[in-house]
Amino acid sequence: MQKRLVQKIVADSSRPKLANFTHDRDLKNGKEEWLTPPEIIRAFGPFELDPCAPVKRPWETATNHFTIEDDGLAQPWSNLVFCNPPYGPKTGVWLARCAEHGNCLALVFARTDTKAFQNHVWPKATSLFFIAGRLSFYHANGKQGGTAGAPSVLIAYGPLADQRLRENKIIAGHYLQNQPAHPFGLRPQIQNN
Ligand SMILES: C[S@@+](CC[C@H](N)C(=O)[O-])C[C@H]1O[C@@H](n2cnc3c(N)ncnc32)[C@H](O)[C@@H]1O
Repeated sequence: MQKRLVQKIVADSSRPKLANFTHDRDLKNGKEEWLTPPEIIRAFGPFELDPCAPVKRPWETATNHFTIEDDGLAQPWSNLVFCNPPYGPKTGVWLARCAEHGNCLALVFARTDTKAFQNHVWPKATSLFFIAGRLSFYHANGKQGGTAGAPSVLIAYGPLADQRLRENKIIAGHYLQNQPAHPFGLRPQIQNN
């Protein structure tokens, strides 16, 4: 009896099925074009600028857009920015710019252990909103993809973005005011973004 129970637990803990998960480090296939679900833009917008928008996009995410052809990192940013940046190693560079701009709502995976999070979110963000469940991002053709491979978080840099998170009554999740100067956060920054 006991042996059968152990066998069942071992069987149930086998590798989870990932077939329906997308949008997680699929960089080798050029899968950077994972668009923010429009209900997120509607709930937390409007925004003045999306500095990393697709060249061909099915809807507007802000009043103004920069694309890879402009290189949004090389351009001046103004007013409230919405930034769902390219994923992978480049994410930290974009979050650094969001923090430097100081008037930005960023959408990234809630990977709180990463260097990008340790260096550019916990020590710099005003507040965070951890979205309940998993988002399904969109392809550039406007079709919805599968469930994302990780949970998402909105990160507010500055009072206006923070206000958008506080006033949200549409998207389910957990609001967290950040304490950038918390003594346990004062360890040396992890290198390499
Ligand atoms: C995760 S998608 C998000 C798209 C859009 N911001 C949204 O929220 O729906 C990242 C986008 O960044 C664009 N991108 C990549 N490098 C860029 C750069 N240097 N400057 C501007 N956009 C860039 C990609 O083409 C892609 O459309």
